Amino acid sequence: VGPIAIVSALHDELRAIDAGLQGRSLQRRAGRDFHVGRLQGHDVLLVLSGIGKVAAATTATLALEVFGARALLFTGVAGGLAADAQVGDVVVARELLQHDMDASPLFPRYEVPLTGRSRFAADPLLADALVAAAGEVLSQPHPALQRFGIGRVRCHQGLVISGDRFVSTAAESAALRAALPEALAVEMEGAAVAQVCHDSGRPFGVLRTLSDRADDAAHVDFPRFTAEVAAEFSRDIVCAA
Ligand code: ADE
Repeated sequence: VGPIAIVSALHDELRAIDAGLQGRSLQRRAGRDFHVGRLQGHDVLLVLSGIGKVAAATTATLALEVFGARALLFTGVAGGLAADAQVGDVVVARELLQHDMDASPLFPRYEVPLTGRSRFAADPLLADALVAAAGEVLSQPHPALQRFGIGRVRCHQGLVISGDRFVSTAAESAALRAALPEALAVEMEGAAVAQVCHDSGRPFGVLRTLSDRADDAAHVDFPRFTAEVAAEFSRDIVCAA
């Protein structure tokens, strides 16, 4: 059986997990460095995808079809959309949707043409494991959050939406909330990975820490939070799962 692929868009999101990789070997494909090694007794494949749906889809395809990954976990940050989704909260995706997919009137808005679906379900067992791990990690005050001046945070589970846009105005996030009221968070890769894993019949999970509220302050909150908190949260939750 192949490794578990752990993928992030940015170095800041994967840094702490990468630091724990043992017996590392490196292969470069399509401009990406695939790090094979062991993490807590598991064979893993660590790789940075870059930002956006195409970058994520390319990376996921290589991980599954070239490296034979048996499952894929995407981890990183997202912008909060739900009213109670605050910076520092964790979101585990149960379903993912591409909010910028629109081939209407040929197909219903959001539907991926010719697949008959707009939502792709994450693997329920992987999502359960991530929720349980997040519950454990979040039950204690976290040093990375404390450094950032944030106290207790929550774990949400449900719909995560993805598109090739950094959502950086209150008007745009309000429009997304109105169109997709049950969306918890917005990011730029998860739904692309979901579609690829669905095509390959391989289980996947998406774990996100909220770096911003996808509003007018998003561009300020995003880099600070991503650098200071996201990597450690990803590591602690992934390693507990
Ligand atoms: N990832 C983190 N914050 C985001 C935002 N506001 N929009 C899109 N992707 C994000």
